[in-house]
Amino acid sequence: QLIERAQYLLSAHNARQLPEDGGYEVAFAGRSNAGKSSALNALTRQNSLARVSKTPGRTQQLVYFQVQPERYLVDLPGYGYAKVPQDLQAHWQAFIDKYFRTREALKGLVVVMDIRHPLKDYDKQMLGYAVERGLPAHALLTKGDKLGRGQQMQSLQKVRKELSGLWADSVTVQVYSSESRQGVDELRGIVGGWLGL
Ligand code: GTP
Ligand code: MG
Repeated sequence: QLIERAQYLLSAHNARQLPEDGGYEVAFAGRSNAGKSSALNALTRQNSLARVSKTPGRTQQLVYFQVQPERYLVDLPGYGYAKVPQDLQAHWQAFIDKYFRTREALKGLVVVMDIRHPLKDYDKQMLGYAVERGLPAHALLTKGDKLGRGQQMQSLQKVRKELSGLWADSVTVQVYSSESRQGVDELRGIVGGWLGL
C-alpha cells in the first residue's frame, strides 16, 4: 500500500510556507478532537505520524505528509475550539478560506466528525466549500467504536439523508473508527483514488 509510505514533510503557518501548488493533495478537516490526526495514523498504519492529543486545538498549522513526490495528505487545524484566541482564529479562518478557494492541488476533502455529534454548522460549511468548487467530499463518521452497530446505522442513515438534501449525492459518507480500524479500507480506497495512486 503506497499510502503507508507517508512521511512528515512540513507544517505551514501561512500561505507562503505551503508546498508549490502543483501536485495532488487530500485534506482532512474537522472539529478539534474529532479524530483527524488519528484517522491519518490509522490510514497510513503509522501510530505516530500525526500528533494525537487529548488536549483539543493542538494541530495549529497545515501539516503536510508526503506519500510520494507531489502526493500529499494534509492535516488541517481543528475548528470550533473556543479557547483559541480570537485573533488566531481570525488568522486561521482567512488562511483556510483562501486555501479552499484557490488551492489547485486540492483534489478532495475528508470532513471528520464524531459519529455521536455529526454535521455541526462548521462541518457543513467545510463540505459546502468543497461542493461549491466541484471537489469531491467525504464525511467520515469516526469513533464508531463508541456505538453499537444499530446506532451506527441509524446515525449513518440520518447523515446520509441530510447530506443528500443539501447536495444531492456530491458528498459520500461512511462509518469509521481509528480504534477498531472499522472502515479503514473504504477510506483508503477513496483517498487513494483522489491522489491518483
Ligand atoms: P485536533 O488536532 O485538536 O484538531 O484534534 P484531532 O481531530 O486531530 O483529534 P485526534 O486524532 O488528536 O483525537 C482526539 C482524541 O480522540 C484522542 O484522545 C484520540 O485518542 C481520540 N480518538 C480519535 N479517534 C478515535 C476513535 O476512532 N475511537 C475512539 N474511541 N477514540 C478516538
Ligand atoms: Mg490533530
